[in-house]
Amino acid sequence: MTAPDGHPAAGANFVVVANRLPVDKRVEPDGTTVWKRAPGGLVTALTPTFASRTGAWVGWSGIPDSAENPPVDGIDIHAVPLSHDEIADYYEGFSNATLWPLYHDVLVKPEYRHDWWDTYVTVNRRFAEETSRAAAPGATVWVHDYQLQLVPAMLRDLRPDLRIGFFLHIPFPPRELFSQLPWRREILEGLLGADLIGFHLPGGAENFLSLARRILGVEVSTDPVGVRDRFGTVAYDGRTVQVGSFPISIDSANVAANAARMADRAAEIRAELGDPEVLLLGVDRLDYTKGIDVRLAGLERLFAAGRLDPATTVLVQLASPSRERVDSYIEMRNRIEQTVGHINGTYGTAARPPIRYLLQPVPRDELLAYFRAADVCLVTPMRDGMNLVAKEYLASRDDLGGALVLSEFTGAAAELTEAYQLNPYDDRSVDDAIAAAATDPVEERRERMTALHEQVMTNDVDQWAHAFLDALAADR
Ligand code: ADP
Ligand code: G6P
Repeated sequence: MTAPDGHPAAGANFVVVANRLPVDKRVEPDGTTVWKRAPGGLVTALTPTFASRTGAWVGWSGIPDSAENPPVDGIDIHAVPLSHDEIADYYEGFSNATLWPLYHDVLVKPEYRHDWWDTYVTVNRRFAEETSRAAAPGATVWVHDYQLQLVPAMLRDLRPDLRIGFFLHIPFPPRELFSQLPWRREILEGLLGADLIGFHLPGGAENFLSLARRILGVEVSTDPVGVRDRFGTVAYDGRTVQVGSFPISIDSANVAANAARMADRAAEIRAELGDPEVLLLGVDRLDYTKGIDVRLAGLERLFAAGRLDPATTVLVQLASPSRERVDSYIEMRNRIEQTVGHINGTYGTAARPPIRYLLQPVPRDELLAYFRAADVCLVTPMRDGMNLVAKEYLASRDDLGGALVLSEFTGAAAELTEAYQLNPYDDRSVDDAIAAAATDPVEERRERMTALHEQVMTNDVDQWAHAFLDALAADR
């Protein structure tokens, strides 16, 4: 049976709620509109969870004032419209100029504005209401990420029959930083509307439990309760809220199979780049957390010291534009583009600039071909919840070639211990890790890649989703 708006009248038994829909509406240069895969790791990870489940996805289409539901195979889409002003205050403002920098070690100064907060509350309520319409009686609802931290409690008020999980895709900060937030109580209370709150790492869960105890004065237990990923509980409002860590991953088998098909294109890419001896690769949303500046500075020092040769080394930096109207992103982009120009101007020739910088999202197959072509993938964030690029690179390398340079300040570093790890705050550590990954004997690199490839192939996103949803279903 179908309701007049095209949705099944009974609602879905499984509902994902995220700020982004899996696809993003873009206006092409000729004025036509197309739906494309939405940016970022959240969509990369959540889309495959629908391969083995049916259900609904509540989210925003990426453009103003659109309630159009794009057709997506196997998913019942519920678009939540946002006005121009709401995009400015809720998305660019509170989500990405307040929470994002606060949760990423205050890498830029968060702005605390009451008008942004008011819009955050309004938009979270709209998401909760749309979710309430989308969900069948007793359904499982999985709310995602920092943009929607009030939805669990709002949804519980509307629909106490639902089983509600919440997963945070970015780091959860320690008390010293979180306490800056003028609305710290409200955010914690919003999250505690869930039955299960998940973080990537035990550290995030610990921070949350400690904050709930100190700020809300609630009773918290950190005793292990016998489930691998479960970490603790909070007694709240007559309920027991579970809090745990669940490191996210990727659709590893799919990435590996598709990357293997791109071997010829990978060889072609190397040829197009002039067959460099060392091909370095960076793949990121253009975000100040990603440490693109860190790797550029490292590369310049290695050229200056003669440790890498600019005549035979190429860095391809694939940068996907992101949050382009937020000041800190505009400033960072200018700095990076200036540095790229400076390094190419100083160390390049007209025919061979050492850095090739692309400011555009690259089609999926082409991205996998780059992974397959690169001798070294540079993942150098100042702070990152997980970093799926690192895992995609490793899954792509079933040829056991290549090497991963990985910042200790990513969630991925906890699992990927065989990577060439670095401290992005320490120049020497940066230079040594990049140089070693580029020049170590091939057997050493192969040994590391064997362990890393295996790690990613055996811990995929399906296991992550199962671990979370099984924990959410437990104790009903
Ligand atoms: P975040 O979620 O912060 O963007 P992740 O590394 O976890 O970081 O996930 C980024 C996702 O976006 C990955 O799936 C990656 O392949 C994709 N991506 C990043 N940069 C580009 C790019 N320039 N072109 C195409 N895809 C990209
Ligand atoms: C990160 C966040 C996601 C977000 C993505 C892309 O992965 O955790 O919630 O969707 O970045 O950012 P954007 O602002 O374009 O949605």
